[in-house]
Order: sequence, then structure tokens, then C-alpha cells
Amino acid sequence: MEKKNIDWASLGFGYVQTDYRYVSNYKDGAWDEGALITDANVVLNECAGVFQYAQTCFEGLKAYTTEDGHIVCFRPDLNASRMADSARRLEMPVFPEDRFVDAVVRTVRANAAYVPPYGSGATLYIRPYMMGTNPVIGVKPADEYQFRIFCTPVGPYFKGGAKPIVIKVSDFDRAAPQGTGHIKAGLNYAMSLHAIVTAHEEGFAENMYLDPRTRTRVEETGGANFIFITKDGKLVTPKSDSILPSITRRSLMVVAEKYLGMTVEHREVFFDELDSFAECGLCGTAAVISPVGKINDHGREIAFPSGMEEMGPVTKKLYDTLTGIQMGRLEAPEGWIVKID
Ligand code: PLP
Ligand code: COI
Repeated sequence: MEKKNIDWASLGFGYVQTDYRYVSNYKDGAWDEGALITDANVVLNECAGVFQYAQTCFEGLKAYTTEDGHIVCFRPDLNASRMADSARRLEMPVFPEDRFVDAVVRTVRANAAYVPPYGSGATLYIRPYMMGTNPVIGVKPADEYQFRIFCTPVGPYFKGGAKPIVIKVSDFDRAAPQGTGHIKAGLNYAMSLHAIVTAHEEGFAENMYLDPRTRTRVEETGGANFIFITKDGKLVTPKSDSILPSITRRSLMVVAEKYLGMTVEHREVFFDELDSFAECGLCGTAAVISPVGKINDHGREIAFPSGMEEMGPVTKKLYDTLTGIQMGRLEAPEGWIVKID
């Protein structure tokens, strides 16, 4: 298969339209058989549930070209089950988890020409999502839904790739107590748009959100979980009911313990203890691991000893091990890698 003529190394995190996408429709209580199609546009009634009451959720995962030339994806079963959780919380029908994984494989295989080559620094980002499609005007769930998957080749989420970023403590919340912060609902991201635009205008790359109830604990950013490294080399990562359970973070906890012999603490992280950490990073599918050099708290800077030049040494080890597993340089735990081609 011939690759598309794309300058892979200059890709940012943007949308490039590929040849195929997967679509399945839900009507009269059942999902149809689904198909790969070429039309990238979605045409819906003006009153569709997704437009009126934001009944939509999504997922994000990546496909990689491995060192020995295969195309693989990373733990798609966890995206399938997280999307099932999102759907249940939003009163949407669950797209069967085995069909989700099969549809991811089929979509990537059909777009193999867009999977960036090994070593290019780019990957194929896969975006499954679903939405309420029939007209809904009283506040209630839709009866009909569409599940879709498209993919797009991407480079680093933050400009500068592995260079440390500066983030700010947000005065806005991205989630509510007892709300939807733990699922991947489009509404959470709509809620964060004003905050991210404000942060960018002020020169920051992202927002640190605190727990919406007490504002004393660290939660996450708009699109990634936090990891912290203590001065004695432990991995600490925040636990909260309003954080999205990041698959990257859950994988890093295993990598830290089983591959690097580190102690891992998944617990409440108080804002007051940030000064005591040696390294800080953001982790997620899009972010991979993006190092944080400084956190600005209303003008007061919390500067991590790892500095603004490069990733801290422990973060780098985590990054190298995780990406080594994803790109086939290191043996993966059972079931983590799904071979596509
Ligand atoms: N937190 C939020 C709010 C996200 O949008 C994402 C991205 O998916 C993550 C965390 C990271 O999750 P994952 O590692 O599963 O991509
Ligand atoms: C991801 O990492 O997959 C995300 O969804 C983060 C962001 C692009 C919203």
C-alpha cells in the first residue's frame, strides 16, 4: 500500500480528511450492521437531539506504525468500555464493545495510507463518537442515534512537542460535583472552551482545573490527566470522581510499577503540595506525555525543578517506555496491542 503524500513531520494536531469513515445507525431499538463510507459530511434534521441538548459523546485513540512495519492500535477495548459508560450516563444506547473494536480496526485498515510511517513523529488519531439524531424538542433523550468513526493523521498536541509548557490555574470549572467530568461527553469540552481561549490569550498552554467542590485538590486539564514525580521518584496521579479515567494514565501506572519498578500513588493530590514535586506532566492520547515546567497560580509561579528546557528524567523514562510499547520496541503486556495490518 502506498502512503499518501503528506509531510508527516510537520503535522500538528489538526484535521486531515481521509478516505473512509465508519457509520452505524440506531433505530427501533437496534444498531444496523454498519458500513465504511466515503462521505465525510453528516446531514441531520435541524431539531436533532445533538443540536438541541448536546446529546453526544466521543472517544480518542491512536494507530501506530511499529518498528517492524505493522499497523497497531493501543488498548481499544478500554475506549469501547469507556464509551459504553459515557453512553449510559447520557441515556444513549451502548454501541456493543466488540463491534466498537472491530469498527476501529476496519476504519484504520481502510485508511492505512494515512497511517504515518514509523519514526515520523506522527500517528493516526482515531475519533469514535455518537449522537442523538432524531428531532427532540422537549428535554429528553433521542430515540435514534448515529455512531461514527473517522481518523486523521496528527503530530504533537502542543506546539514544540516535548518542550515543557506553562499552564495556569483556572478560575473556571470543567466539571461539576456529581456531574459528567468522569465521562467523555461533548458538553464537558464545550464548558472548557471559554477557559482555554482565556488561557491562550494570557499566554498559557492549558488550564489546571481544581476540584469544583472545594478548589483545594488538583483534578486535570481540559484534555489530559496529570502525573507528578516526587523528589524520591514516586509516580503520583490525582484520583477524583470528576476526572476522566485516562487510558494513558492507567497504562502509565502499570508501566511505572511493572517496567520501571516505581512506587505508584493514585490518590487525592492537594494543590498545596505541588511545590514538593520534582516533575509534572500531562498524559493522554493526544498529549502522550507533555511535560509541564511551570504552573501559574494568579501570578505566583510554581516552577518544577525539571525546568523549562526538557522533560524531567523520570517523565522521560515513562515516555520512552510507553511509546516503546506502543511502537513495538518493547514487549507489551498481554492484550494491550491490537494488530491491524
Ligand atoms: N482527560 C480529558 C479531559 C481528556 O479529554 C482526555 C483525552 O482523552 C484525557 C484525560 C486522557 O485520556 P486518554 O489517556 O484515555 O486519552
Ligand atoms: C484525546 O487525547 O483523545 C482527547 O480527546 C484530548 C483532546 C483532543 C480533547
